[in-house]
Amino acid sequence: MDKAIEITDEIYWIGVNDRETHLFEALWPLPYGVSYNSYIIMDEKVAIVDTVKFTATGTFLDKISDILCGRDIDYLVINHMEPDHSGSIRSLIELYPGITIIGNRKTAEFLDNFYGIVDNVKVVEDGESLSLGKHDLTFHLTPMVHWPETMMTYDRTSGILFSGDAFGGFGTLDGSIFDDELNIKFFADEISRYYTNIVAKFSPMVQSALKKLSGLDISIICATHGPIWRKNPEFIIDYYDRLSRQETEEGVVIVYGSMYGNTKKMAEAVARGIAHEGIRNIRIYDASKTHLSYLINDIWRYRGLVIGSCTYNGGMFPPISQLVHFMEKARVKNHVVGVFGSYSWSGEGIKDLESFARSSSCKFIEPAVSALACPKDDALASLFDMGSSLAREVKAFKC
Ligand code: FEO
Repeated sequence: MDKAIEITDEIYWIGVNDRETHLFEALWPLPYGVSYNSYIIMDEKVAIVDTVKFTATGTFLDKISDILCGRDIDYLVINHMEPDHSGSIRSLIELYPGITIIGNRKTAEFLDNFYGIVDNVKVVEDGESLSLGKHDLTFHLTPMVHWPETMMTYDRTSGILFSGDAFGGFGTLDGSIFDDELNIKFFADEISRYYTNIVAKFSPMVQSALKKLSGLDISIICATHGPIWRKNPEFIIDYYDRLSRQETEEGVVIVYGSMYGNTKKMAEAVARGIAHEGIRNIRIYDASKTHLSYLINDIWRYRGLVIGSCTYNGGMFPPISQLVHFMEKARVKNHVVGVFGSYSWSGEGIKDLESFARSSSCKFIEPAVSALACPKDDALASLFDMGSSLAREVKAFKC
């Protein structure tokens, strides 16, 4: 897909696929890669919307040169400054020095801070428009979806919303770029993992953006990652709405951190109690083995969450500590939570977990269950009971 791909007769996808990067943001696994989507509008004036990561600048510039056929570029609209989209700006303006960069006040600040770019920058306000000839672009500021400068650009003529990170997902575009050309079931998991890993913390801002955009007549959604939604843009709007409201399904995720298997035994006892109450979706994960990315994704999906930790260096086991830190920052809600842990002499791990459960916005199933060294019959019975109580709450819970 080294050529621009037509979306409408004057608007083209000029994005790239990244199958080389192992970790997005140096954190999140990319087993199926990711696309960096950029778009070009060939009107009386030519405008590009967002660029791509610096690792793919060459391919990106080749596509642009090919479609321009000697024309110049008038505008570069920057919806988002994170370097996976802004990484080719400098190369682009070096080749096309006549470009005017369009962004808001924060964009201008970030352009200077990241790249030292201050010239030919036109600052736009929320709701301001720009005519390219036939196409009229309107800029809608949607801060913190995903950075403070984030905005979306709506083309009134085609009904296309260039949405930035919003409505995006992991996964490369393998031969197909449109929602009607690919298997959405495959992408749904990668969209959800992208949302929960990258955007989840900003869910209230996603809800504000959805409300703000609700009056627009959107025919196509062009995000900066993942498919272009031309057949069923409502699908991705609804999916993001549900994810950002933290709508959950019936099911329970148990995550444990266990050095020598004693905390793992406790997890198995909780799971038995949950299964006894008829819950069918139960996932048990060893936090030392399964990457945080996948844990968060399943936790976001299922209503029940049980976390167990041994005590390590006077606190939670490090992978559990990392998970809890993420859950606190993401302000997880609409969950029923239970905690347990083992210890050899002091037991701070379980105390820290209990403190997380009490201060969260989730329903805490008391008591926390702890075991000295290895769980004995009385602890195992308490864990089974915790699982049963939690399962009943999960079934009864209304989001
Ligand atoms: Fe895809 Fe927030 O950058």
